[in-house]
Amino acid sequence: MRIAVGADHRGFSIRNKVVELLKRLGHEVLDMGVFGEDPVDYPDIAAAVARLVSDGQVERGILICGTGLGMCIAANKFPNVRAAPCHDDLTAEMSRRHNDLNVLCLSADMLGERLIDRMIEIWLNTPFEGGRHARRVDKIARLEREYLAQIPKDNEPSQS
Ligand code: RB5
Repeated sequence: MRIAVGADHRGFSIRNKVVELLKRLGHEVLDMGVFGEDPVDYPDIAAAVARLVSDGQVERGILICGTGLGMCIAANKFPNVRAAPCHDDLTAEMSRRHNDLNVLCLSADMLGERLIDRMIEIWLNTPFEGGRHARRVDKIARLEREYLAQIPKDNEPSQS
């Protein structure tokens, strides 16, 4: 699988371990930083990863910040991105089975390394169940399309 990974300064040390784990599991990793512990703004990193997922250049993304929350909020601004913070085996599993989550957001401050490794493996190996869950995920995509259709293109005159 092609997977983009990004972290802010709070997630920096975890990020390296996540990249190593993904490579060890045989995945192709696009490492979107951050590459040091100097403070950065999490929306910049979330955008770099979410854009790749949104455009279909990678199948999945993993984002790490202090809580996993800011990354999630920013990533969900991109069409086709379904991002959520997961915090245990069950949320990692259900985020795939029911929500077809394509961006996993992790807290560097609240989750231990072993739990993170386990959650990532569960999240990568659990299929989307489809069926009634596909109908619901499709409804989310429709909300996004309807909203985007209302926004005038840059070069279109506005109606008012
Ligand atoms: C950075 O200080 C912190 O706000 C960030 O890592 C994250 O927790 C935001 O949601």
